[in-house]
Amino acid sequence: MTEPQQVICYAHRGARGHAPENTLLAFDLAFDLGAEAIECDVQRSRDGELVIIHDGTVNRTTNGVGAVAALVFADLRALDAGRVWRIPQRIPTLAETLDLVRRRGGTLNLEIKGESVEESVGTAEAVEPVLRALEEPLRARLLVSSFAHPAVALLKERLPWLRVATLYSGREWQKADMLAPALAMGAEAIHPSVALTTAELVTRAHDAGLRVNVWTANRSATIRKLIAWSVDGLFSDYPERVIIARAQLAAQSEPQQTGR
Ligand code: G3P
Ligand code: MG
Repeated sequence: MTEPQQVICYAHRGARGHAPENTLLAFDLAFDLGAEAIECDVQRSRDGELVIIHDGTVNRTTNGVGAVAALVFADLRALDAGRVWRIPQRIPTLAETLDLVRRRGGTLNLEIKGESVEESVGTAEAVEPVLRALEEPLRARLLVSSFAHPAVALLKERLPWLRVATLYSGREWQKADMLAPALAMGAEAIHPSVALTTAELVTRAHDAGLRVNVWTANRSATIRKLIAWSVDGLFSDYPERVIIARAQLAAQSEPQQTGR
C-alpha cells in the first residue's frame, strides 16, 4: 500500500503572519520556516510590468495611494511595501519572485489577479511569454491559479504543460459544481476557501482525479481537521502551524511500539 502523501504547505502571500505580505522577505522566510511552496498575487502596472501585490490599490500594504493599474512601475517601486511592519521592502516583480524560487527550490503558486475577469485575462496574457520562457525544472514547480477561470483556461490552452488550478470563494459556490470548471480546462486542482471545503467535496474531487488545496487555514484546529479530510495542500499565513500539525498527526498515526 502506498503511504498517503503529506499535505503540501503553501505559505500564503509568503509567511504573511510573520513578515510584510508578498515581499521577497516573506517568501524567503516561508522557505526558512519549512514551507514547500509559496503563494503570491500578480498584477500589471500601468506600463505593463508584472508586479506582486494583492490588493487593487497600494493603499493598505504600502505608504502610497492609488490603483496598481494606474501607477507606473517606477512609482510602484519607490513605495515601501513593508510599511505595516516597519521593515522597508519593495514591491517585487514576477521576475524577481521566479528568481527567488529558482534559488530556493520549492513550488510557486502564482495567482492571477485583476479587478475584473477582463483585467485578469489581460494579466494572464502578459504573464504568458514569461512562463513560456521558463526552463523545464521551474516549469514543473509552478502552479497558476485564479478566481477568474477564463484567465487560467487561456494559459492552459496556450501552454498545455502548465499546471493550473481554479480558485473559489463566495456562497454561490456552495450549490454550484466546483469540479466542472477545473475538469473542463484540464486543471490539476481546485482551490476552495476553508468555508467552502467539506469532507464530501474532497472525496468527490479525488474521485474525479483533482487535488484539493485549501485557503486560508490559520487556526491549528482547522488545519488538523482539513488534514484529517485528506486535503492535498493548505495555504496558511503561518506555515509553521501546518508543518507542526502534520507532524503531530503523522506521529499519532504511527503504529504504537509494543513488546520489548
Ligand atoms: O490563492 C489562495 C488565496 O490567496 C486566494 O485569496 O484573496 O488571499 O488572494 P487571496
Ligand atoms: Mg492570493
